[in-house]
Amino acid sequence: MIAPIRWQDGRLVLLDQRRLPGELVERAHADWREVADAIRTLAVRGAPAIGVAAAFGVALAARASRAGDGDGLAAELAEAIAGLAATRPTAVNLFWALDRMRRTIAVSRGMARAALADRLVAEAQAILDEDLAANRAMGAHGAALVPAGARILTHCNAGALATAGYGTAVGVIRAAQERGLVKLVWVDETRPVMQGSRLTAWEMVQEGIPHRLISDVAAAFVMRRGEVDLVVTGADRIAANGDTANKIGTYGLAVLARHHGIPFYVAAPMSTVDPSIASGAEIVIEERDAAEVRGVAGRETAPAESPVFNPAFDVTPAELITAIITERGVFRPPYAFA
Ligand code: MRU
Repeated sequence: MIAPIRWQDGRLVLLDQRRLPGELVERAHADWREVADAIRTLAVRGAPAIGVAAAFGVALAARASRAGDGDGLAAELAEAIAGLAATRPTAVNLFWALDRMRRTIAVSRGMARAALADRLVAEAQAILDEDLAANRAMGAHGAALVPAGARILTHCNAGALATAGYGTAVGVIRAAQERGLVKLVWVDETRPVMQGSRLTAWEMVQEGIPHRLISDVAAAFVMRRGEVDLVVTGADRIAANGDTANKIGTYGLAVLARHHGIPFYVAAPMSTVDPSIASGAEIVIEERDAAEVRGVAGRETAPAESPVFNPAFDVTPAELITAIITERGVFRPPYAFA
């Protein structure tokens, strides 16, 4: 099974997703700052995976601390949590996981540093294990929505690479494939960073799932030809009313799916639900470097002086979402996650 994040011999081992599909490179990290950098630069990406990696980052900070007393240690851990939280703003799983680590630190006050570090490693491992279990449960709930011979369209990478393993949207596809229901997966390449072509297509090849890669602009055409039975995507943050932030381009797909009468599903663990915000209007959308849009794979395809707008995510209004698949079951509108 594809395992993008693991704890080994006191280090966090991350599969460097920037090098896929060409190379399978793993890097071992002992410093939380390296983990923050890996999140910022997309070596590890995908909402649940970011949360798991950040949780281990906090554990690394405790292991590396040379603070002379409990107050010094607490200050170093607070600095690490703040540094990890500042990496990417949209995926709520990051803040959810860091809050969980903060609570673990709070209830472990007075513990010796080595014991606290062990406790934090165990908590991060629990977050990883729970995510894997949630993905398998989500897969089972989601597969029940997939008709036999399904042609499924997905966007970005919400697969094993984006999670502790197995995947959310791709987890639903995996579970449907295990039940013999999948005829074809349409994989959107997902400009500008190509998570679809670089990562989802790679996962499809690893798993032997029949798929076809399309440029994002081809999605409308394949829907019009009647060749898509359902769309399933992941999520980075789901507001209390069901509005969902996900990779840029998701909203457009939801509009297209509604126009063509195709069900549009979102698959995400409850750790992606943010009940503290009423609607998607409150979601902070990350804007990334202009170079991602001005070029492809490091090669310039636009004038260097052209101004760029590069939002990494968009928000799909709840009314366009047929159902939200979670580990606790399938939610249908009206959504009321508060
Ligand atoms: O910028 P990324 O690659 O981190 O964006 C990832 C997505 O938008 C995924 O669809 C989302 O995080 C769900 S991952 C299970």
